[in-house]
Amino acid sequence: MGKVVVAALAAGCTVAACVVASVMVRRSVRRRRGWRRVVRVLEELEEGCATPVGRLRQVVDAMAVEMHAGLASEGGSKLKMLLTYVHNLPTGNEKGTYYALDLGGTNFRVLRVQLGGQRSAIIRHDLDRQPIPQNLMTSTSEELFDFIATSLKDFVEREESFSLTSQQERRELGFTFSYPVKQTSTSSGNLIKWTKGFSVEDMVGRDVSECLQQAISQKGLDMRVAVLINDTVGTLALGHYHDEDTVTAVIFGTGTNACYLERADAIIKCQGLITTSGSTVVNLEWGNFWSSHLPRTSYDIDLDADSPNPNDQGFEKMISGMYLGEIVRRVILQMMQESDVLRPFSSKLDVPFILRTQLMAAMHEDDSPNLSEVARILNDTFEIPDVPLNFRKLVVKICDVVTCRAARLAAAGIVGILKKIGRDGSGGIASGKTKGGSQNKMRRTVVAVEGGLYTNYRMFREYLNEAMGQILGEDVAPYVVIRVTEDGSGIGAALLAASHSASSSALDRVST
Ligand code: BGC
Repeated sequence: MGKVVVAALAAGCTVAACVVASVMVRRSVRRRRGWRRVVRVLEELEEGCATPVGRLRQVVDAMAVEMHAGLASEGGSKLKMLLTYVHNLPTGNEKGTYYALDLGGTNFRVLRVQLGGQRSAIIRHDLDRQPIPQNLMTSTSEELFDFIATSLKDFVEREESFSLTSQQERRELGFTFSYPVKQTSTSSGNLIKWTKGFSVEDMVGRDVSECLQQAISQKGLDMRVAVLINDTVGTLALGHYHDEDTVTAVIFGTGTNACYLERADAIIKCQGLITTSGSTVVNLEWGNFWSSHLPRTSYDIDLDADSPNPNDQGFEKMISGMYLGEIVRRVILQMMQESDVLRPFSSKLDVPFILRTQLMAAMHEDDSPNLSEVARILNDTFEIPDVPLNFRKLVVKICDVVTCRAARLAAAGIVGILKKIGRDGSGGIASGKTKGGSQNKMRRTVVAVEGGLYTNYRMFREYLNEAMGQILGEDVAPYVVIRVTEDGSGIGAALLAASHSASSSALDRVST
């Protein structure tokens, strides 16, 4: 009897052990299969985002071609190539105290800049930075500008209460408004459309300066909107103020864009443009650039389709700070949907834009041996605790692929502009004349850059700089200098307010 019980027990144990073992084997097979799927998602992402130099050169050419098309006719390209009517950049002789208001990405800034009349003599600038309340980004123009004018008035009163000299003349303001605007003069222009999540519908088509000027007057503040500019133009103005070889400026922040100095006679769509300098600043609005050579993945297609502006701002959606974290979230979500390597599934993964690009950068640059920062951010953002180390490594790799593509495409965009203005060295770098008789000596060329994506995200910066070198080649690359202009979009507006209040801008007009 006893033997039978023992035998039955032993048999039972064996069966149980077999069941446990088979469950474990099944689990481990499932885990391995799941892991293989996750790795496949990564490999497909890498293939889809590949940017070999050959492809970058195609993007360079496409950018230059689209620039020509956008200058040839209104609507001739997805690149709007907007006239800014800024024909003269600050000379360095500007003097006095000017204000600037910078409305662009997630923050808005108010500045007071004192200019000493000598190049590099910005005596001081004071700054107030505030986040734009989320509800105002989709409210009415009246509410938005009332809030801005109130903050501006508070700032002016605070600043002037510390100042020893009293304000004698009417205050002059440079207004940096970083959205596509069809300028009608240096100080006025109508909003074409919103980008970067803003959507104050009653503003579209209206004169942006007028809206601000009205709100300022209603607050009883004696101030004139002297110039209305894009942030790229402010950056170019400050870049040029410090270094006359600066010919183009690029923003890599929440959004992305570039402007550059163009010959007035190259702007075919505006034949009558007469400028004292013979050149003028053109705002590309390159966020909307598109080319079949851009490496586009299913994540980009879905992000675009789910966005409030589908088929719009395609280049920006691959490059700028507003979108990079969102692309990474979509890839992680895809991995989770294809396998069960991380269970239970967190519903936070479904929340659009929950992974901000700053956090993505922090994960990408986590150099701790066990990637503890990656684990912390995945837990805080998606509520996924204890992510295993191999998955953390995968997340770092996703960030790397997404940022590398963005930075390399950005570099191709810059070289595209240089190519358009003959500064990419493609005509040779030696001194002397080409067959046609034109000079082809490569000149030192400075690109002014502003924006947190470039200044705060080391890997983005390194990939961009590396790609510039690869596209231009080792003979030409040393002639091209990328220079960060801190707060250029704001200080540049004050500089332009100063130069336009003093300059003989009557000569710079469009003849009809
Ligand atoms: C806007 C541009 C701006 C850029 C950088 C884009 O979304 O359309 O006007 O220059 O962001 O702020």
